[in-house]
Amino acid sequence: MQRQDIDVVVIGAGAAGMMAAASASQRGRGVALIDHSERLAEKIRISGGGRCNFTNTQAAADRYLSRNPHFCKSALAQYSQHDFIDLVNRYGVAWHEKKLGQLFCDDSAQNIIDLLKAECDLVGIEWRMGTSIASVEALDGGFVVRTNRETWHCQSLVIATGGLSIPPIGATGFGYDLARQFDLPVTPLAAGLVPLTFEPKDLYGELAGVSLDCEAHGGDGPSFRENVLFTHRGVSGPAILQISSYWTPGREISLDLLPGRDVSQLFEEARRSDMLLPNVLADWLPKRFAQAFCAAHGEVKPMKQYQVAELAALANHLHDWRVKPSGSEGYKKAEVTRGGVDTDALSSKTMMARKVPGLYFVGEVVDVTGWLGGYNFQWAWSSGWVAGQHA
Ligand code: FDA
Repeated sequence: MQRQDIDVVVIGAGAAGMMAAASASQRGRGVALIDHSERLAEKIRISGGGRCNFTNTQAAADRYLSRNPHFCKSALAQYSQHDFIDLVNRYGVAWHEKKLGQLFCDDSAQNIIDLLKAECDLVGIEWRMGTSIASVEALDGGFVVRTNRETWHCQSLVIATGGLSIPPIGATGFGYDLARQFDLPVTPLAAGLVPLTFEPKDLYGELAGVSLDCEAHGGDGPSFRENVLFTHRGVSGPAILQISSYWTPGREISLDLLPGRDVSQLFEEARRSDMLLPNVLADWLPKRFAQAFCAAHGEVKPMKQYQVAELAALANHLHDWRVKPSGSEGYKKAEVTRGGVDTDALSSKTMMARKVPGLYFVGEVVDVTGWLGGYNFQWAWSSGWVAGQHA
């Protein structure tokens, strides 16, 4: 099979891989960008409901989960959200801030794909879409990458194959396997930013479609004040997706269903009335939810029949409603994979493996997972750009 020499091979033409290829080629490096998928950057295309939440103005290390919370600082400083916003502006892509610093395209996520493709084509790279990798090995201080089309011999190899979420659009564990092949540790993997499930017969299954403003807390992470959405199988919505990245199976999550509201006062005002408790709560909560919640916490009576202690207990439940999810919807619904190539094995300044000169890991394959809200793409841009400056 034909053997080609090139400076850099990037495997994975998603967010981080295209950024790494553009960054390296614009330094004058010859770059081949290989992806097994025929379609370019499918995850960008479907992201943000088709509008790509491409960064967050608040991107900083405290918005990322990693065994080493400091690891992402260097890349985020070297190529920040402001650098990416400048790039988006240079290409005249119209965007808006939706909420909480989240920036979306006005028109379509395709704008971001087109922009990255144009950046790769500025100097020129060898595109190899629909190309599968047969093997990778180290040779003569570089790497030999065998594909179904040709064999590349490169000085630097950048792995940008992403995580395990959404296998039908091309996700594989290639990057983790390659890390293991080179004796680099991989931290435990789990679905992140994912809906959580309840047991099928759970009472709350009947609430599918109901959405509430909540403060959610799960695991050892921070709490998130956003919407919770009941689904046929459990709970979703931004607040749940956020805490899912901190949740571990077997643990309870806690939801404050009326954040910032004084439920005791609401009860006190209605306490001597004939109103049924769910109708009182329906002032502040969706009626369907109020009914199901009251039914689950005892007999439903007119307010005046409740003891003060019973109402106090209910108020506590409303501010700290504990549920134990039975699991998550898994990689088929997860936006990201938690865990990845252990950051201890990589240089935070270059993204190169400390033990394997010339081998780089970027984007989601690394043990750096962002919150919901544009943080994961920012990590892909930052880590990809940095690797491209050194590869
Ligand atoms: P990415 O997954 O983008 O790219 C990996 C590439 O490697 C793919 O092109 C794949 O085909 C290729 N590949 C995999 N295995 C291979 C193999 N064996 N051989 C060759 N090629 C291989 N984030 C965010 O910040 N804002 C948002 O709006 C969203 N929205 C969103 C929606 C949905 C539905 C999902 C699933 C995810 C998001 N995300 C997001 C997360 C974001 O998409 C994700 O973090 C980045 O795409 C990660 O970029 P990477 O380049 O690391 O992987």
